[in-house]
Amino acid sequence: MEIKTIPTTPIDGQKPGTSGLRKKTRVFMEAHYLENFVQSVFDAIGGAEGKTFVVGGDGRYFNAEAIQTILRMAAANGAKHVITGRGGLLSTPAASNLIRKNATDGGLILSASHNPGGVDEDFGLKFNIPNGGPAPESVTNAIFEATCNINRYLTLDTPAIDLETIGETLLGKMTVSVVDPVADYAELMEELFDFTAIREHIANGFEIRFDAMHAITGPYAKAILEDALGAPSGTAINAIPSEDFGGGHPDPNPAWAKDLMNELMSDDGPDFGAASDGDGDRNMILGRNCYVSPSDSLAVLTANAHLAPGYANGLAGVARSMPTSCAVDRVALELGIECFETPTGWKFFGNLLDAGKATLCGEESFGTGSDHVREKDGLWAVLLWLNILASRKCSVSELLLTHWEKYGRNYYSRHDFEALPIADANALMARVSGQLNDLPGKSFAGLEVTKADSFAYEDPVDGSKSSNQGLRIQFSGGARAVFRLSGTGTEGATVRLYVEYLETEPSKLNGDVQLALAPVIEAAHEIADIAKLGRPGPDVIT
Ligand code: G6P
Ligand code: ZN
Repeated sequence: MEIKTIPTTPIDGQKPGTSGLRKKTRVFMEAHYLENFVQSVFDAIGGAEGKTFVVGGDGRYFNAEAIQTILRMAAANGAKHVITGRGGLLSTPAASNLIRKNATDGGLILSASHNPGGVDEDFGLKFNIPNGGPAPESVTNAIFEATCNINRYLTLDTPAIDLETIGETLLGKMTVSVVDPVADYAELMEELFDFTAIREHIANGFEIRFDAMHAITGPYAKAILEDALGAPSGTAINAIPSEDFGGGHPDPNPAWAKDLMNELMSDDGPDFGAASDGDGDRNMILGRNCYVSPSDSLAVLTANAHLAPGYANGLAGVARSMPTSCAVDRVALELGIECFETPTGWKFFGNLLDAGKATLCGEESFGTGSDHVREKDGLWAVLLWLNILASRKCSVSELLLTHWEKYGRNYYSRHDFEALPIADANALMARVSGQLNDLPGKSFAGLEVTKADSFAYEDPVDGSKSSNQGLRIQFSGGARAVFRLSGTGTEGATVRLYVEYLETEPSKLNGDVQLALAPVIEAAHEIADIAKLGRPGPDVIT
C-alpha cells in the first residue's frame, strides 16, 4: 500500500493544555489540523515504527472520523498494532488500562472530557505514555515543538475500516484489533472490589442511581452495576452515548447533573447517586439529601480504602492537587502516610504512582483514582464508595458526618468566572501576585493572612520543576483562598477561585457551605478586587 507524504506547514496554537490539545470541533476539522498534531505526536516520541498504540475516544462528534485518520497515519508511520474499542469507543480509564495491560507504547485518546460535544462544541486529543497516564510536560513540550516545525505528514489512501466488529483487521501492514471496550475494565474492577458484598447490599434494598450523562460510561455502568452487581435495570440513566451528549454538558457537578441532584436531594430519593463525565474519568458522589464534595470524597476514600480487597494492605501514600481541600492531609497524618501536594492536572500524579509513593490521588475537579490505572476513574470511585458503604452498612450522610466528627470539616467551594477577556483574567492574577509579599500579617474580612505564595512544584521522583501553578493565600485557623487560571477552556480565560475553611466545632459541621465560607470569599474578593471583572457573580459555583 502506497504511503502518502502530504506537505504541510505549522499551525499556530497546537500547544497541549492541562489535558491534551482541546479546541472547538470545527478547528479540529480544518484542513491538516488533526493530521499535523498526530504526526507531531509520532515525531515527538521518536516515530511510530514497530510500535503498538491504543486509540479510542468518548464517542463525541468527529470521534469516528478522527479515529480513521489516526489509524491511517499510524499505519503510514509504520506502527505495528493498534488496539481500539468497538466503534472506536473507550472511556479514558479503560484506555489507560488497555495501554498498561498490553504493554503498549502509549495511546491516543480522543475527548474533550466534560466539555460539550457537537460540531459547534469541543473536541480534544491527548497522548498517553506507556504507563497509561497523560504525557508529562517534557513530552507535551516536545509535541508542541514538533507542531512548530512540521513540514509533512504520512497517511494512506484507504477507505474507512470497520470498527463495529470485534476481531482483527489489517490496515496496510498494521494490525487493528477491535476489542470489547468494557470487558478488560470490568475484570479489573472485579479484582479490586468485593462484588459479592456490594451485590448483597443492593439485593437488600440499597438503591443506586448512576447518571452517565449520555456519555461513555453508559455501557460500562450497565455491564457493571446492573449486569454484574444486580442493580435493577434503569439504575444507569442516560446510558446510551450520543455524539452531542443529548445536547447537554457532560460534567458531573451539581450545576450540570441537575436532574440527578433533584432526585437525590429528597427524603425519598435513592440511597446513593453518582455521575460521570464525557470520557468517564470524573465522578460526583451523592447520598440521599447529601452532596459529597470531591475533596471530602478523597478524604473519606483514603480513610476507608482498606475495606476494599484491592487496598486491604493499606495505602503507600496519597496525593491531591494544590487547590483540592486539605481534608485528606489530616487523614494521611493519622494513617502515618505521606500526602503529596501537586499542581493541577492528573499527569502530575503519574510519577508518584509509578514510584509507589502514592496509592490514591484526587482533585477538586471531580477526579479520584488510584494506582490501578494512570488516569482518574469515575466508575472506580463509585465502586469504592459502594464497597465501603456495603462494608460499613451506613448511609452516605452518616459516613460523612462520622468523618467530619473525627477529622473536622473543610468547608469547600470553587467559584468560576468563565470566558473572560484574557487581559482581564491576567490583570486579576497580576493584582494578586503583585501583593503576595505584602499580604502576610494583613487582615481581610476578619481573617489574617499567614502565608501567601505562587505555587511551585518539584517532582520528588524526577526532580522536574513546574512554577506558576496558582496563587495561594493561607489565613489563620485553616482557611485558604486559591486563584488559578483554568488550563482546559476553549474560549477566553477562566479564573477559578477556590475557597476553604476548616471547622472543628461539632455543632457546626452541618452548616450551609456558602455561608460558612462567606468571610473567606469576602477576603478573596477584596484582595483580588474581583469587582473589576464586571461580573455580577461567579458563572458556576461547585
Ligand atoms: C482536566 C484534568 C484534571 C484537572 C482539570 C483542571 O480534567 O484531567 O486533572 O484537574 O482538567 O482543569 P482546569 O480547567 O482547572 O485547568
Ligand atoms: Zn474527563
